Amino acid sequence: MSESLERRLERLELLYEVGIALSAEDDKDRLVERILLEAKKLCNADGGTLYLRTEDDQLRFAIMRTDSLGIALGGTTGKPIEFAPLPMFAKSGAPNEHNIATCAALRKESFNIPDAYDATGFDFSGTKRFDDEAGYRSQSFLTIPMVNHQDRVIGVLQLLNAKDPETGAVVPFREEEQRIVEALASQAAVALDNQLLLEGQKALLEAFIQMIAAAIDSKSPYTGAHCERVPVLTLMLAQAAVAADEGPFAEFTLTEEEWYELKIAAWLHDCGKVTTPVHVMDKATKLETIFDRIEMVKTRFEVLKRDAKIRMLEAQLEGDEEAKARFQREIAALDEDREFLVHANVGSEFLSDEAKERIHAIGARQYVEGKLKRALLDEDEIENLCISRGTLTEEERLIINGHMVQTIQMLEALPFPRNLRRVPEYAGGHHEKMDAKGYPRGMHAGDMSVPARIMAIADVFEALTAQDRPYKKGKTLSESMRILSFMKRDNHLDPELLDLFVRSGVYKDYAEKYLPDSLIDEVDEESILTTQPKAFEDLEEGLRARRKRTFLPEYEPLRRSVMGETRDGDEPDMPEQIREAAKSA
Ligand SMILES: [Fe+2]
Ligand SMILES: [Fe+2]
Repeated sequence: MSESLERRLERLELLYEVGIALSAEDDKDRLVERILLEAKKLCNADGGTLYLRTEDDQLRFAIMRTDSLGIALGGTTGKPIEFAPLPMFAKSGAPNEHNIATCAALRKESFNIPDAYDATGFDFSGTKRFDDEAGYRSQSFLTIPMVNHQDRVIGVLQLLNAKDPETGAVVPFREEEQRIVEALASQAAVALDNQLLLEGQKALLEAFIQMIAAAIDSKSPYTGAHCERVPVLTLMLAQAAVAADEGPFAEFTLTEEEWYELKIAAWLHDCGKVTTPVHVMDKATKLETIFDRIEMVKTRFEVLKRDAKIRMLEAQLEGDEEAKARFQREIAALDEDREFLVHANVGSEFLSDEAKERIHAIGARQYVEGKLKRALLDEDEIENLCISRGTLTEEERLIINGHMVQTIQMLEALPFPRNLRRVPEYAGGHHEKMDAKGYPRGMHAGDMSVPARIMAIADVFEALTAQDRPYKKGKTLSESMRILSFMKRDNHLDPELLDLFVRSGVYKDYAEKYLPDSLIDEVDEESILTTQPKAFEDLEEGLRARRKRTFLPEYEPLRRSVMGETRDGDEPDMPEQIREAAKSA
């Protein structure tokens, strides 16, 4: 067998292998690098450049190599290429055919130049300048356009200075080398085009997801930048878990795809909030609906006072000398009751049974509106004012918590590909607790993945330390951390992950980035680490398994309504407010 035939067979063999390797490469930078390196190897070239075409028709330097000068830029080297991209068209719109690479792209034609210094038709002045500075001699050039299946040029492969394998002397590229590199370029174009398409789809998906997160964040000033920051914190804590080489997370790792999956899940963790009605989400006082009904109540007191005044004037006309003193007592009592209601409406502290009785008593008083006698407070106002803690009624609490039912249902309805299949599980678990007292499934801690538990900590810590909510002073770092230690004790959060959060210093790194200096204070790490979770009873196996699949009974009506299901063909069995909330979704 002649040597050249042997060499040709070798090349074909190499081309075949490269074809398989290229189609298996799933990282664009690695792929681009591989294409160039393999092409160089096929022709024993000293250097080469791979350009990628940009959306605005420029050829961008993606990777560059000149072995004898020790130049290796772009691709996986992490070293950027500073050269400006080559425009395929001049500003006037005229095609730029002076440059050999852009000309190859414009004409979809390969150029094989034995010696650039003798070549006519192309402008090699830049090359010559480079040679002068670098003490190099660019000689033979092989420039090949990479054309995709839609017949569009997506890049250009350029090889420089083919070398005789025996002598090492620079020689022109042989015709058979050109043909084989053309074959490689055509295979590479398909692989690269797939990567570019995938990358484009990925970028679109991410932008879309971030748009939803931004919409939720801007829906309510109370949410601040929550959806944007939870992913940051989630990834920081996951990084600490991956880095741990001892302790409970020593074995924990995430592949490149799993990182991506976790990031997407964190961005979407509250996506169900798009359906939560703003007047419930932002309910700052007990009587607030679209507006704060306390203003209506205050007006009714004015009516009562006016009527008292009329009564006084009438009594005075009849010569009643006690009338004025009685009136003043009445007004003082009314003012006191009104202030009591205004205070109760705020909902900042626990409301005693006595206070509730007083609300009922005040509410039962009557006032006249038009010709009708009405109770001072209607049933709904009494129910709201009698909320023991906070500002939300039970139904409203369910609506707020229902964002998790919405999140899970929305995400489970999406056709996530295999590599993102756990997004609903990761995103849907951040309100579950260790002792199975969380929502919406009441899942047992042992049934929750590490990423879901990481997200629970990120969710709480972001909310505690947020500085961008209205009417809320930011908590100091030590206060926020103390609350986390209570949550560890009460089995709300994973104790091992919380310890990692403290030990790794992730909480500090996050605080330094997002908290004003004035709120960063000394944290008693030791007391958090030594806090012991209270003992709790395990759920029995059957119930554990069931809870993994279903929602807690109180969330069933909401689930059915989200799914558009009705029971026995009837209207869904759910409180009016939840139905309203679901409707406004
Ligand atoms: Fe949430
Ligand atoms: Fe959240």
